[in-house]
Amino acid sequence: MEKKIKEIWWKAKEEISQPQTPEKLSALKVKYLGKKSELNQILKNLKNLSAEEKKIIGPLANQIKNKLKEIFSQKEEELASVVDAEKEWIDVTAPAQRVRPGKLHPLTLVQNQIEDIFTSLGFEIVDGPDVETEFYNFDAINMPDDHPGRDMQDTFWISKKENRKKGEGVVMRTQTSSVQVRYMEKHQPPLRIIVPGRVFRNEATDASHEHTFHQFEALVVDKKISVANFLFVAETFFSQFFGEKMKVRLRPSYFPFVEPGFEFDISCTNCGGKGCSTCSQTGWIEVGGAGMVHQNVFQAAGYPRNKYQGFAWGFGLERLAMMKYKINDIRLFHSGDIRFTEQF
Ligand code: DAH
Repeated sequence: MEKKIKEIWWKAKEEISQPQTPEKLSALKVKYLGKKSELNQILKNLKNLSAEEKKIIGPLANQIKNKLKEIFSQKEEELASVVDAEKEWIDVTAPAQRVRPGKLHPLTLVQNQIEDIFTSLGFEIVDGPDVETEFYNFDAINMPDDHPGRDMQDTFWISKKENRKKGEGVVMRTQTSSVQVRYMEKHQPPLRIIVPGRVFRNEATDASHEHTFHQFEALVVDKKISVANFLFVAETFFSQFFGEKMKVRLRPSYFPFVEPGFEFDISCTNCGGKGCSTCSQTGWIEVGGAGMVHQNVFQAAGYPRNKYQGFAWGFGLERLAMMKYKINDIRLFHSGDIRFTEQF
């Protein structure tokens, strides 16, 4: 009998140690520990044995039973952890999901930088509405209804033609110059402001023209302001913006709201003024318009004539961003193409 029990033990141990599935294992458990198992039969029939035998067989059979229970539960645990590992299997070679961090639009970057430079020069940053009255966009800055200067800008009119005749027209503002009188009506000189903002023109688009773009206007008014002040501010600004010494050149030009008016150029950012294909071998790049504020503009703002002097300038933000980041098509800014904005 003793031998028999030991045999059961060895056989069971051997079988359990074979590779197992949970189903096979529970069948084995029934075979070795079930009610009808040999071991249980032996335990059941203990009473038929002699007292001598009982003493040996009883504890042995029980000991084996407990040992079997132990190795069964060990094996069960082992199997359970294999199943879990399979469920939680991670393919470490699978390509990772790409994280796309947010990026600032190049125009935002340029605008932030401009605002930093001008605030360090003591300028205030001012805002105005995109949908503007004809008065602030045109009349107040010396462009009355019959002024030929209005033809220079292709305007998106919001209002009907009749209203326009009464001077009550509404437009998508064509220039940030519209904020000049808006601001001066409420503030007295001395003043130094910049106005970055969106402007609109009813024109066909190509690589250098957009119907919607951004300008920024600068306006400085005090009792004694001259072209020299403009030159100083412009050279300081462009040198800081491009991180190298820049020269500014003025050419006579006409804008209704300034007298005298100029267009201004900066030394070519590509060749530094030597002459290259970017600047058509001239060494200069045209940037924007500027001039000394017309007394009619001061008058429209409610200032007395000939009491103040000021300079104003305005030009496109896109143009500046294009120079800085060497972008060759203005339409990219509003393309909504993430591949474009991700590069900055
Ligand atoms: N508003 C002009 C334009 O859109 C640019 C400009 C020219 C602004 C001369 C000014 C200026 O302030 O003095 O074409």
